[in-house]
Amino acid sequence: MKTIYLDHNATTPLSPEVLSAMLPVFTEYFGNPSSVHSHGRSARVRIDEARERVAGLVNAHPGEIVFTSGGSESDSFAIKGTAFALRDKGRRIVTSQTEHPAVLNACRELAGLGFQADCLPVDRHGRIDLEQLEAAIREDTVLVTVQHANSETGTLQEIERIAEIARARGVLFHTDAVQSVGKIPVDVKKLSPDLLSISAHKLNGPKGVGALYIRKGCPKLTPLISGGGQEKKRRGGTENVAGIVGFGKACELAKDRLRSPGTPCLESLRERLRSLVMERVAGVELFGHPESRLPNTLSLAFDGVGGETLLIGLDVEGISVSAGSACSSGSLQPSHVLSAMGIPAEKINSSLRLSVGWTNTLEEMETVAEALARIVRRARGENTGKTRQERAADRLIDTTR
Ligand SMILES: Cc1ncc(COP(=O)(O)O)c(C=O)c1O
Repeated sequence: MKTIYLDHNATTPLSPEVLSAMLPVFTEYFGNPSSVHSHGRSARVRIDEARERVAGLVNAHPGEIVFTSGGSESDSFAIKGTAFALRDKGRRIVTSQTEHPAVLNACRELAGLGFQADCLPVDRHGRIDLEQLEAAIREDTVLVTVQHANSETGTLQEIERIAEIARARGVLFHTDAVQSVGKIPVDVKKLSPDLLSISAHKLNGPKGVGALYIRKGCPKLTPLISGGGQEKKRRGGTENVAGIVGFGKACELAKDRLRSPGTPCLESLRERLRSLVMERVAGVELFGHPESRLPNTLSLAFDGVGGETLLIGLDVEGISVSAGSACSSGSLQPSHVLSAMGIPAEKINSSLRLSVGWTNTLEEMETVAEALARIVRRARGENTGKTRQERAADRLIDTTR
């Protein structure tokens, strides 16, 4: 069965070029980058090259990039590293309700250690209010952490303005850009955060590697992992050389793609899917900011149909997507993001997230829209225009595919 992958916000397929760049690291360049001999030096050279490529994608200086094990570690390092380093200055952090659990749980853990996190609400499109942000920053606030793009809805926050507000108040600003880097241009000189999280596996790189951009001049963060002084004493542990090399290659490819978007680009794929679904299915609602949104993300609710039913129906047809509710301990947990946007639980429970990637095609959008329309009609018990025998045959196909 031909499969279609529409869950690129969860993870992306590894680019073949990335795999080719990584393979020699397992065989030829296996040295420890801290070793002084030639084997060590050749591994070090490859890390340095990758650092330049990662920095190049976000217009940073290579010295501002610290390699980590991924987006979660980068978020944790930014938040806890700042909190611990600046604890004598203040113990408050401002964040938002729709952050990734990597951010929210880091803030929760800090709350157990005597820090306080002020969590800003969002509007119905998922954006924070900048006046509320201004009001939330107090004398003892040391960090504002607000994501660039939301993984579920694609909503983009007003990062440049948030950075300005934080800077004017003398507070550091971290942004989780795990979902935006590689999908849209991200320029740290323009957005001007102090700290920015990136994850390789969201941009066709390998899993288990990421980076934290730390602006030159930013106070020294307290490391999460102490060790042998790697990453200029900012992150201990022998480097994941193959992962870092793959990450570098993925960043180089992403930069080329963003400079000269091929046909079709993410937005045209997403818009084709959106218009086909809206044409063919009644009672569909779109979540997220209408304009300021990632070009690849579609968060939709289908009246009267469970998201899990849709997800399973699509999965049976070889189409992978995400639902707005996750099953936890046998009950459906509505997404904290959609809940924070004021969307009622029953709508959340009928929602799906479809996230396209560079390898998807316009034909696949046709196939997915057609399958969705069929599954929704069936779930709603609508007349499909087919005879009883044809419906029975459909059911048979559905269970054998
Ligand atoms: C916005 C955001 N931040 C952080 C992460 C965590 O990244 P990683 O899987 O590399 O730990 C994710 C992953 O889903 C994400 O979407």
